[in-house]
Amino acid sequence: MKAEIGLDLIKAKNILESGDLVGIPTETVYGLAANALDPLAVSKIFEAKNRPKFDPLIVHLSEIEQFDLYSKNFPKELFIIAEKFCPGPITFLVEKKSIIPDLTTSGLEKVALRIPNHPLTLELLKSLDFPLAAPSANPFGYVSPTSAQHVFDQLGEKIPYILDGGSSKVGLESTIIGMENEELVIYRKGGLAIEDLQSVFSGEIRIKDHSSSNPQAPGMLSKHYSPNKRMELWDKTDQFREFGNKKIGFLGFSKKLEGIENQFILSEKEDLNEAAFRLFEGLRYLDKLPIEKIYIELVPEKGLGIAINDRLRRSVAKS
Ligand code: TXA
Ligand code: MG
Repeated sequence: MKAEIGLDLIKAKNILESGDLVGIPTETVYGLAANALDPLAVSKIFEAKNRPKFDPLIVHLSEIEQFDLYSKNFPKELFIIAEKFCPGPITFLVEKKSIIPDLTTSGLEKVALRIPNHPLTLELLKSLDFPLAAPSANPFGYVSPTSAQHVFDQLGEKIPYILDGGSSKVGLESTIIGMENEELVIYRKGGLAIEDLQSVFSGEIRIKDHSSSNPQAPGMLSKHYSPNKRMELWDKTDQFREFGNKKIGFLGFSKKLEGIENQFILSEKEDLNEAAFRLFEGLRYLDKLPIEKIYIELVPEKGLGIAINDRLRRSVAKS
């Protein structure tokens, strides 16, 4: 099989209705979608991604009125946040209804619901009478795709169709939140900044730092979002030992380093939104070069910088 890339919503709809997979654009990253209510279709996602079955999938909807079809007791605090930021880069972890198959949530009692902000995918979702389960459309553990071509490069042999919605505008996966007791809990830092949540939620916000000790959410495993090359954080006092021999690359925030040929700068104007948008592209670019090691500079720890640094640290972490 070789995936076709195109803009044909009817074709995408037909393939999904027949229980097969379609690559879909979202504002965060591209997803690998299947009928979330059909366990057989969902199992094809795990197969194509080489993803462990204990890693649950996000269920994508087209409007907030649908939350109650798939979840119970949707917390009112989360609903207020949803009204403000949906469609957008935010996912809600809430109690699931039994219509959601166990495979979709890996047997967990909660389901992750999200309304992606992309016109093509919203139109597709509205045309279907089921929601779409979709993880990021990359092989398990690798960098997430932000264009149809990225999806094609990595999963093109395994899926029939990729809907081309251009480059993902946010470039970082959605922020995942839920309520525990009275607290708002952030399970994954992502494309919606914590500051934005604070602007509408006045209570306690807690960040749950997941790690390998919590296999329930491997997206939070310490080594994830990872290029194949060796990676190291760049400590500004470091002198590169390999300096000059062209075997290293550098992923920097706003300024190039002198004397290194292979560099990717995230945002010359120090704009964290632009840096998020370019992050995965940069990691892919450097990963393809004939170099041995990639040095990485962290970005300012605020706004989307918090999620960017989270991804950078995970991509460096050795399992
Ligand atoms: O921006 C996004 O969220 C993208 C686009 C395609 O929507 N999707 C995405 O999916 O990043 P994925 O599968 O790569 O990451 C979803 C994360 C995983 O770490 C998964 O473990 C966690 O969400 N997750 C999903 N459902 C869950 C559940 N029921 N309980 C706990 N964690 C859950
Ligand atoms: Mg992922």
